[in-house]
Amino acid sequence: MVSSNSPTAPLIIIIGITGSQGSSVARALLASSKPYRLVGVTRDASKPASKAWIEKGLTLKELTVAVGNEEAVKKAFGGADAVFAMTDSWAHFDFQREVAEGKLLVDAALSAKVKLFIWSALESLSDLTGGKYPGCTFYETKAEITRYLQASGQAYALVQPACYFSNLLVSLNLYTPRLQPDGTYLLALPSAPKSTMAWFDAPVDYGLYVRAVLENPGVGEGAEVLCGSEASFEEVVEVLSRVTGKTVKYKQVGKDEFFELFKDLGKVRRNPSLFQRLRAG
Ligand SMILES: NC(=O)c1ccc[n+]([C@@H]2O[C@H](COP(=O)([O-])OP(=O)(O)OC[C@H]3O[C@@H](n4cnc5c(N)ncnc54)[C@H](OP(=O)(O)O)[C@@H]3O)[C@@H](O)[C@H]2O)c1
Repeated sequence: MVSSNSPTAPLIIIIGITGSQGSSVARALLASSKPYRLVGVTRDASKPASKAWIEKGLTLKELTVAVGNEEAVKKAFGGADAVFAMTDSWAHFDFQREVAEGKLLVDAALSAKVKLFIWSALESLSDLTGGKYPGCTFYETKAEITRYLQASGQAYALVQPACYFSNLLVSLNLYTPRLQPDGTYLLALPSAPKSTMAWFDAPVDYGLYVRAVLENPGVGEGAEVLCGSEASFEEVVEVLSRVTGKTVKYKQVGKDEFFELFKDLGKVRRNPSLFQRLRAG
């Protein structure tokens, strides 16, 4: 369970080591029977989540992925066998910025001759729905970066995260069941109760998929991995009720009722233009 010092162990650079996905990748690789030299990237090596990794013996590099910082990113990727890369839409919800930072990561990997770029991709909801849902920034940014990556000549694998189960527990999240006056909890979304989507426990599961890319024959370069297991909203609230001992119900709501609920959510409140865009879309 320690990062290897052997120069023959593959060198893996992990963007977002202090976050859900990156930390999961680090844990899964540390738990592997194969040795890896892990280097985590953070903008702040003095914060508690960074210090926790340093105490576990990992090397952390302070690096900001940002336009203007291309040379530093390229330098950080030097000698890497693989880079795990993610971008953080929720930090700013700026389409142009996220795409620019994603492309910058791809360019840096190419210049540094990184052998494999493992990208936390998402598909274009606009493409999947024939243009019906065009404005979902955090999908479209990832899809745009994926297109750039695929055209770049950089060796890559795509590992698409599922919806995190933790979204159900984060206060004021879209997927958080809300306490009702009768003491029960209600998850209210526009989706039909039996409609399914892929879910997973990101901090635990995500890294296992990334590890499969590095270790499992037949996955590797060019793989497009979809994480998680399909579950309907009915099933989700049934499991939530069982594991929490609370009564959690699901209700399909119309667009107007949904937006009434949604407008109170914390992230949207901090970003009113997002709410306006969603409502318009
Ligand atoms: N929640 C979901 O259900 C879900 C599902 C699929 C995909 N996603 C996507 O997952 C992404 C978030 O991943 P996560 O959950 O792992 O995030 P997270 O736990 O919030 O962590 C964000 C990480 O990104 C790093 N980071 C952010 N901006 C950076 C920059 N400019 N340069 C270097 N590092 C930077 C942070 O590092 P430091 O702060 O240490 O510098 C931190 O480690 C989002 O883009 C979201 O769209 C989420």
